[in-house]
Amino acid sequence: MIQGAGDGLLDELSALALEAARAAGELLLARPDHLPVDTKSSPTDVVTAMDRRSEELLVSRLLGARPDDGLLGEEGGQRLGTSGVRWVVDPLDGTVNYLYGHPVWAVSVAAEVDGQPAVGVVHCPAVAETYVGVRGRGAWRLAGDGRRALQVGRPPELAAALVGTGFGYTEQRRQSQGRVIGAVLPRVRDVRRVGAASVDLCWVADGRLDAYWEKGLKPWDLAAGQVVATAAGAQVMGLRGMPAGEELVLAAAPGLAGPLHDLLCDLGADED
Ligand code: IPD
Ligand code: CA
Ligand code: CA
Repeated sequence: MIQGAGDGLLDELSALALEAARAAGELLLARPDHLPVDTKSSPTDVVTAMDRRSEELLVSRLLGARPDDGLLGEEGGQRLGTSGVRWVVDPLDGTVNYLYGHPVWAVSVAAEVDGQPAVGVVHCPAVAETYVGVRGRGAWRLAGDGRRALQVGRPPELAAALVGTGFGYTEQRRQSQGRVIGAVLPRVRDVRRVGAASVDLCWVADGRLDAYWEKGLKPWDLAAGQVVATAAGAQVMGLRGMPAGEELVLAAAPGLAGPLHDLLCDLGADED
């Protein structure tokens, strides 16, 4: 058990997460005209030099300030710590949006304390908005000098819900996700494919989406946004009693999570 895992520690972790995410955001905003692109799991799964530079900056800021912490980063950063705190970072969530000049991409920084998600910062530099969530305290959207507390409201019926989802990178995964979205679309108000999972989760917290689900998210896609959504009162879960994870992540206000859960179960949304 970590020593002093109280208010002071959460203050320190959230301030550091915010400072590091903002610094990485500045770096990413200075995007070079020519951006070489490599592929990862499939030709559609891309990574740029800026993803890697952003992760290097995050690692150096976070571990520079707290050298005994652990860290897991999408671009290879991995370190076992001894302090009871582990950072989980996606240095650029929404790389395809970034590549095409779409504004919705984020730097996602989460801190787990004793294995439990405790702090989440999702910083969206191109729209100058930042989401912060602290377990047990609440969630906020920061924009300019303003700070707005987030609390999910009473959701609409599923038939009137605006839902978000995302797609994986392999052909097989996309075939199955295409089948699911084809069956969900006629049953809801409309569907958005935002392109950055961390932002989808924060937009559920912020009321910009009524619900979101996705299969195949990795810990760095989920960690920070999950803290924000949960701290705003959303339910973040998997299917059939599973916790949210790679099998499936579903986030919604409590009254909507049940009906969407049942529909996704019927459709086998957690199967490949
Ligand atoms: C991706 C985005 C996308 C989601 C994918 C993620 P990346 O992350 O969050 O919205 O649908 O599952 O892999 O590759 O841009 O960091
Ligand atoms: Ca991601
Ligand atoms: Ca990424």
